[in-house]
Amino acid sequence: MIELTYYGHAAFQLIVDGHIVLIDPFLEGNPQAAISPQDARADYIVVTHGHGDHLGDTLPIARRTGATVIANAEICAWVKEKGALTHSMQIGGGYAFPFGYLKLTLALHGSSLPDGSYGGNPAGCLIHSEDGRRLYFAGDTGLFSDMKLIGADGLDLAVVPIGDNYTMGPADALQAVKLLHPKMAVPIHYDTFDVIRQDVQLWKKRVECATDTRVRIMQPGETLRID
Ligand code: NI
Ligand code: MN
Repeated sequence: MIELTYYGHAAFQLIVDGHIVLIDPFLEGNPQAAISPQDARADYIVVTHGHGDHLGDTLPIARRTGATVIANAEICAWVKEKGALTHSMQIGGGYAFPFGYLKLTLALHGSSLPDGSYGGNPAGCLIHSEDGRRLYFAGDTGLFSDMKLIGADGLDLAVVPIGDNYTMGPADALQAVKLLHPKMAVPIHYDTFDVIRQDVQLWKKRVECATDTRVRIMQPGETLRID
């Protein structure tokens, strides 16, 4: 069983077979944050790209918990120098972790680190759990047609940004759902800041009219169970 808890913006906690995986743990300064960095638990922390609203509290959480940071080689080198354990990867590569097989996927975006260091290429990730569930976290990205390949083997869940301005907006995110064809889609990366305000209920209606994907709007703090 997989338990997915939303912490607001693009932050999640994933528990797979007892392994705790944080994704993009931006908590301090996140107006939607459902947990404080001090209370976060983690065995692994996936960082999709270097921007502050994704890297977030990775360093303090990794230092306190001893969690391993999974990211591209550039982000890993940066956090390793600051005391975190790391597992570095690059886009297109996957690795069998105790929580499942994780592959870094393409994302059309930037990835500079908070001090201006080069953060490598931004990514999304595809997680294939041992019991056969497939989850896709798009990360911050614009629409790209290879999403069709990412969804080709079937997806139980796709987490997609809809906020516009920095990432796909609602119309492109609808196209993304059509390409990915997941059973369920969770919209993220909206309403955190004024510039990414969206009508998420309207997006849900549009997607559910145009596709057979179910849209699940998660409130910060809410947990979704995927059996
Ligand atoms: Ni970003
Ligand atoms: Mn972002």
